[in-house]
Amino acid sequence: MPLLFSPISLREITLRNRVVISPMCQYSARDGMPDDWHFAHLAKFAMGGAGLVFTEASAVVPEGRITHGDTGIWSGEQAEGWARIVRFLHAEGAKAGIQIAHAGRKAAMQRPWHGNGPPDETDSARGERPWRIVSASPEPVTEGWLMPDALEAGEIADITRAFADAAARADAAGFDVVEIHGAHGYLLHQFLSPLSNHRTDEYGGSFDNRVRFALDTARAVRAVWPAHKPLFFRTSSVDGFEGGWDMSDTVELATCLKAEGVDVIDCSSGGHSPKGATNANVARGLGFQVAFAEQVKREANMLTQAVGLILDGPQAEEVLQSGSADLIAIAREALQNPFWALHARQAMGVDENYADWPVQYQWWLQRRAHSLKKLGL
Ligand SMILES: Cc1cc2nc3c(=O)[nH]c(=O)nc-3n(C[C@H](O)[C@H](O)[C@H](O)COP(=O)(O)O)c2cc1C
Repeated sequence: MPLLFSPISLREITLRNRVVISPMCQYSARDGMPDDWHFAHLAKFAMGGAGLVFTEASAVVPEGRITHGDTGIWSGEQAEGWARIVRFLHAEGAKAGIQIAHAGRKAAMQRPWHGNGPPDETDSARGERPWRIVSASPEPVTEGWLMPDALEAGEIADITRAFADAAARADAAGFDVVEIHGAHGYLLHQFLSPLSNHRTDEYGGSFDNRVRFALDTARAVRAVWPAHKPLFFRTSSVDGFEGGWDMSDTVELATCLKAEGVDVIDCSSGGHSPKGATNANVARGLGFQVAFAEQVKREANMLTQAVGLILDGPQAEEVLQSGSADLIAIAREALQNPFWALHARQAMGVDENYADWPVQYQWWLQRRAHSLKKLGL
């Protein structure tokens, strides 16, 4: 059995395989509520054989949404909305993860299909007005973007509590895994990176000060998140800019997070770019972030998740076999092929005749395969 399809236990949660569906914002919620779109979007990945399916970044407070369309987990009603989805993921054999997040100075921006920039009059015309945004320092994403207020110490503590409250709601909703979003230029990353944190109090300056908010948040979440369930943390392993956050910072942060009870570092990168919200300065080849997962695993002695341009089963298997990571996260490939894991099983000879497919599809696909074979196709 390839490692990719071998079960893995994280604390007391056992994933049926190592295929993880990476968090993917859909920007399609109203008032943070997951709805039928989110159900259909996530349900396919569980039907498609993934071991762990992550929700998109879900805001811990309304002001922490990236766009008006982001989902949230700041209310019990939202948790109930998620619970319906979690029940279906479980029924299909997958475990369910939720990424909890605060966008900081990237909050209140436009959806990708509305421009992916700062809010303008076209958004207001749709009734989507910006709100007060916050960050480590009063510095916008880049010129022309909303100016954030620097958070006061008391407000930082409130957000830490909001992360913990969100994790408690996620537990009540039945989620198996929580991931704290510490990457992509959002709030926690804004505190971590010297590019966006110019504070002079106990949350800025030295490495220890810049990681304080992230560590406090991990500690607060771990305190309410059940001991038998794993906790993930997504990092932007490198900023990719001179003077920015780099791999030695990530390894040191991972070591500190491990001491707080974080189990897996999900190794992404980028998010701070003067060119806009989603630009990164890290060259993108196949598996371009695998080396980050490998270094964290080796130097911080932690479980890691590799992500980024991992396209097929054999490539994923090589990452696992080389000992670079323990889990493989798939995002865009899963958008174009939600049955990615089942197709990889077939391509790698694990499933020969649709035997692993949902029973509702199996018989029909087997008969079709038989017909195609007779036609020599
Ligand atoms: C539609 C879409 C939405 C995304 N939303 C999130 C998100 O909510 N949180 C996050 O950490 N990353 C998000 N990402 C990044 C992915 O999780 C992933 O790291 C990235 O797409 C690279 O993996 P890939 O090459 O397999 O697509 C998103 C990516 C896509 C394509």
